[in-house]
Amino acid sequence: MDRFQHLGDVTVDISDIQVVEHDVIVVGAGGAGLRAAIECSIRGLSTGLVCKSLLGKAHTVMAEGGVAAALGNVDSRDHWKVHFRDTMRGGKFLNVWRMAELHAKEAPDRVRELEEWGAVFDRTKAGLINQRNFGGHRYPRLAHVGDRTGLEIIRTLQDHGIHQGIDVYMECTGLDFLKDGDKISGMVGMWRETGRFVVFRAKAAIVATGGGGKGWKITSNSWEYSGDGYGMAYEAGAELMDMEFTQFHPTGMVWPPSVRGTLVTESVRGEGGVLLNSEGKRFMFDNIPDRFAAETADTEEEATQWLAGDKDARRPPELLTRDVVARAIRKEVKAGRGSPHGGAFLDIASKRTAEDIQRKLPSMYHQFKVLAELDITAEPMEVGPTLHYFMGGIRVDADSQMSRVPGLFACGECAAGMHGANRLGGNSLSDLLVFGKLSGEGAANYISEMTSEPTADDDQIRSIIRSATDILNRESGENPYLLHEQLEELMQSSVGIVRTEELLTEGITGLDGLKQSFKKVKAAGASQFNPGWHEALALRNLLITSEAVAQAALLRQESRGAHTRVDYPGEQDEWLRYNVVLSKADDGSMKSEKIERPAPDAELDRIAGLSIEEVEAEVAGEQ
Ligand code: FUM
Repeated sequence: MDRFQHLGDVTVDISDIQVVEHDVIVVGAGGAGLRAAIECSIRGLSTGLVCKSLLGKAHTVMAEGGVAAALGNVDSRDHWKVHFRDTMRGGKFLNVWRMAELHAKEAPDRVRELEEWGAVFDRTKAGLINQRNFGGHRYPRLAHVGDRTGLEIIRTLQDHGIHQGIDVYMECTGLDFLKDGDKISGMVGMWRETGRFVVFRAKAAIVATGGGGKGWKITSNSWEYSGDGYGMAYEAGAELMDMEFTQFHPTGMVWPPSVRGTLVTESVRGEGGVLLNSEGKRFMFDNIPDRFAAETADTEEEATQWLAGDKDARRPPELLTRDVVARAIRKEVKAGRGSPHGGAFLDIASKRTAEDIQRKLPSMYHQFKVLAELDITAEPMEVGPTLHYFMGGIRVDADSQMSRVPGLFACGECAAGMHGANRLGGNSLSDLLVFGKLSGEGAANYISEMTSEPTADDDQIRSIIRSATDILNRESGENPYLLHEQLEELMQSSVGIVRTEELLTEGITGLDGLKQSFKKVKAAGASQFNPGWHEALALRNLLITSEAVAQAALLRQESRGAHTRVDYPGEQDEWLRYNVVLSKADDGSMKSEKIERPAPDAELDRIAGLSIEEVEAEVAGEQ
């Protein structure tokens, strides 16, 4: 996997290779990439937006239930301080404090800006943007468009973006970045249809390729999510951080097998849906961690008051954070109280009228009708945990979003730090808006301070192309589809929702074997639209991503948020002082280290530590 392994053996002819030039290239065209590209363009940069799929075909649409922002439209007590406090608590205080602050402060403006750009949000009776409840958020905070919020955000950003003069390169896979010394100077890509290569010369690159859920068997992620940004940034010298924190969304479809893992939006619970085991019991009441007890309903009666719109009622335990709910479902299944296909029942039919369900959750209604032949207005759904999101990613500076590689930026799911050990639902959409914009600003500032233009090195270009074409040119070798399948099985069983040293060690040993096999991977056929070749190219990044998760999970000897070590139960104060950081060592191996976190800003520390009564009183005084 050494990208320069062929430098002594250069025979690749690049004399007629396509070369495209921009100030900045943005890799990945979901919400984060689009927002970053818009910002670059607004700031006068020539901007190329490169995506391996079609524009708008992105995981952003999987954030169905809403975008979190303290607009205060439904409960006027909401405020950035409460959003910040909720986010830190949800992230088990491991979040990069400054990122959580920027996010909570800037999310309302980013949502209002989207509205100005044409997003059509659901409305309150007073005509304001409507907001709904979601896990871990104190107040109804998720601005939404039924259960299609991510889709509306993508549509709006696309519409706005194409009028900004951004050049879009669709169905073009980024292979690796080019560097001039330590600085980014571009990227080599490959047109998926023709198999031809293209050199993007650029002064800066923004990575926004989302996560790497395709390393696991049960996932809400679609084929694009192979950790490309993590792999490419790692190979270019960037660090990865917090990779052990992989979020299992509690409610994915479990039946039929062909759609296992498909997301069932948290807004089903936000609209009053309850979780039941095979005995018909609302088991979440037995799974309230002490630290949430005061803010969560203990009885069905209290939870019902909340559904009836009583603003001071305590919240139902189905809206605890995702890590807690996912583990509780797993526990019921393990105890033999699961649903017929190994999940739990999610019932909205007995809580809401059929009309309400079809109006508030139209996609879920349609999804279950079409995929499972089930009417959710009449029957409960079967749901179980599905790998959904990476809290970890490329280590960046909070304000500029630049990695340790000069000129290499990251935003959205690709970047680490914002969500700490666990992300609150809806904070992904606000994250990608806030940090998409900041990364565009960061890149513009970086370029404006440049004293000389970086150049693209021909030997690096040849080496990247040779690594890619070797997969086609070897006589025989390992089948990329089978390797991917083995990887999914391994990650699901060894680096899943519950981890131990034994399992993780088994996983790392298995990954070592897969890395050896990958060196011999062979795609049959020619370079024109060759899915086997594309699969093999994605595998390199999936293997880097998976190894980073497994190594980080082994090193962190505690349970925190989405990372559960049954051999190290509970949060350990000592571990709150550290992030796990991964980088490529000189010998080509992956290095994992405990790196001490900077001390929090005193004011932010104070806000995060306030009780809900204290923060409410403080906010009331300011309003
Ligand atoms: O459940 C959902 O609608 C997902 C939202 C998110 O991941 O932010």
